[in-house]
Amino acid sequence: MSETFLVVGATGKTGRRVAAALREGGRQVRAASRSAETRFDWQDEATWAPALEGVHGVYLVQPTLPSQAQQLVPRFVERAVAAGVRRLVLLSARGIDAAGDEKLLIPERSVRESGLTWTIVRPTWFAQNFSEAVFLPQILEGVLAAPTGEGKEPFVDADDIADVAVAALTGEGHAGRTYELSGPEALTFGEAAARIGAATGREIRFVDLDDEAFLKSATEAGVPAEHAGILLGLQTAIRNGYDAHLSTGVRDALGREPRSFDAYVRAAAAAGAWTPPAN
Ligand SMILES: NC(=O)c1ccc[n+]([C@@H]2O[C@H](COP(=O)([O-])OP(=O)(O)OC[C@H]3O[C@@H](n4cnc5c(N)ncnc54)[C@H](OP(=O)(O)O)[C@@H]3O)[C@@H](O)[C@H]2O)c1
Repeated sequence: MSETFLVVGATGKTGRRVAAALREGGRQVRAASRSAETRFDWQDEATWAPALEGVHGVYLVQPTLPSQAQQLVPRFVERAVAAGVRRLVLLSARGIDAAGDEKLLIPERSVRESGLTWTIVRPTWFAQNFSEAVFLPQILEGVLAAPTGEGKEPFVDADDIADVAVAALTGEGHAGRTYELSGPEALTFGEAAARIGAATGREIRFVDLDDEAFLKSATEAGVPAEHAGILLGLQTAIRNGYDAHLSTGVRDALGREPRSFDAYVRAAAAAGAWTPPAN
């Protein structure tokens, strides 16, 4: 029987792709989250041990709130070691070390110090945020509103993140590496909206929000205050040009260039990502 891989966050943008790619490669996959085949809840430690039993490698999507990740990821990593896991790939984020807040590095440190064969992936903003997540409703409504001004972001394709994660889980040469992943081109949110509009034949306007307007809209959308503050910080960094640089992680890990934003837009449009649901 082939080795079993646990994917934590298996219903999300990257986890779903990691699980699918591992299965396509003939690996046994335990797909885990609150709503996946294997129930795993960060808030219910009783669900962790069954998920970890007999597992060779783990792809780990952390809890979204840093305060929870700092508390829970080190505990989970300890449990993984005790359960006999050999490899672990942690999904982190690019720029996590830029804020100068040591606490944000606690989850990564717990992985580095675990004794496991580890790899950390630090992606920029996912291109799929426009088609599978937070910005999808706005794209469908034709108005993308964010506090990012003319700042540019090199959106990375979640397929590339998954390819790197799968290589790190199943291949050689990735142990002890921290890969910073970006797409090949930095775009403003307005440019991203325009490209999606061109591919879908609709006008998608970009509206620049000030901090107050962003926090108000996030609160109205039910985003917890801690998360809204983090999102504002990330988007302010984009506005100020701090996140526009390109990273070489996809090439370093896979020996090929990252997928372009245009290729992502074509694929997502062809898959019907921006086709409004029929009434
Ligand atoms: N989105 C980006 O642009 C971006 C960029 C860089 C880094 N990241 C990092 O990627 C991670 C995930 O980001 P995302 O919000 O974009 O992910 P996502 O695609 O929404 O996936 C989140 C996954 O976590 C699961 N989940 C949520 N709450 C859970 C809980 N209490 N217990 C167990 N599983 C739970 C969800 O499944 P269920 O709902 O079924 O539980 C889902 O599978 C974060 O650590 C973020 O910092 C994101």
